[in-house]
Amino acid sequence: MTGAPGTTPEVASISSLDDLAGERVVSETAEDVADAVATWIAAQARRAYSDHGSFSIALSGGSTPRLLNEKLAGPEWQGRIDWSRWNVYFADERACPPDDPASNYHLAETTLLSRVSIDPGRVHRMPAERTDLDAAAAQYSDLLAGSLPAGRDGAPRLDVVLLGLGENGHTASLFPGTAALQVTDRWATRGLADYEPFDRMTLTFPAINAAAAVGFMVTGAAKHEALTATARGEVPASRVRPTDGTLAWFLDAAAAAG
Ligand code: 6PG
Repeated sequence: MTGAPGTTPEVASISSLDDLAGERVVSETAEDVADAVATWIAAQARRAYSDHGSFSIALSGGSTPRLLNEKLAGPEWQGRIDWSRWNVYFADERACPPDDPASNYHLAETTLLSRVSIDPGRVHRMPAERTDLDAAAAQYSDLLAGSLPAGRDGAPRLDVVLLGLGENGHTASLFPGTAALQVTDRWATRGLADYEPFDRMTLTFPAINAAAAVGFMVTGAAKHEALTATARGEVPASRVRPTDGTLAWFLDAAAAAG
C-alpha cells in the first residue's frame, strides 16, 4: 500500500476493498484527501509537461471536488501550477445552463477556473444545455479526438480523468442500466441519471480508460458500499480500468472503513 507523493498513507484496513483495482491512498479527512489529490494532479501535470509540453484534465462535478478546486485555487498552490499549459475538459455534465448551480461547469468555474490564470479558450465545457444532446455529445467526441493525442486503442488520451463515485456505483454520468454503458465507438455520449437533472452528457468508458491516469475521489461512510460493490465488479465504476495508464483511489477513512 503506497501513498501519493507528499502524503502520509494510512494502511487501508484489510477489507472488502482489497479487490479494488489500482492504488489506494487513504487519508484521515476529506481535507486530507483534497491535499493528496492536489499533490497527485501536480505530479501528473509535471509528467505531462515533460512528456508533451501540456496537460489535459477532465474534471468531475458533484460535491466532492469543491474542496480540491478551492485548494488548487488557493494560496497554498499559487505559483506552483503552470496554468498556461492546462487544457480542461469535463467527465460529464448535467443538462442545464452553464450558470445553473447544478452545472458541473458552474462548480469548476466558480471554485477554480475563475480564480486562476487559465486561458478560457483552453476550457472545453460540455454544452449539455443543448436540446439535441446526441449532436452535442457527438461534437464533444470530435473535439476530444481533434485536440488530444490518440491512445493505444485509438481513443483520445487525456492526461488525467478525475472521477467521483455515486452511492449506486455510477461514475461520471455512467449510470447503472443505461445505454451509455454500452457505447464503445465514441468518446462522449448522452447519459441518463436517476436523479435531477436526469439528462446528461458523459465521457464513455473507452475515453476514460484511454487516460494516462485516472483518479477517484471518494469521501464519506455513505460511499463505502459503493466502493465494495466496485471492488466486486458489480457497478459501472468497476469498468474503469485504464488500458495504458494508472488508476488511483483517494479515499478518506470514513469511505474506506464504512
Ligand atoms: C455528477 C458527477 C458524478 C459525481 C458522483 C459523486 O455530475 O453528479 O460527475 O459522477 O462524481 O455522483 O458525487 P458527489 O461528489 O456529490 O458525492
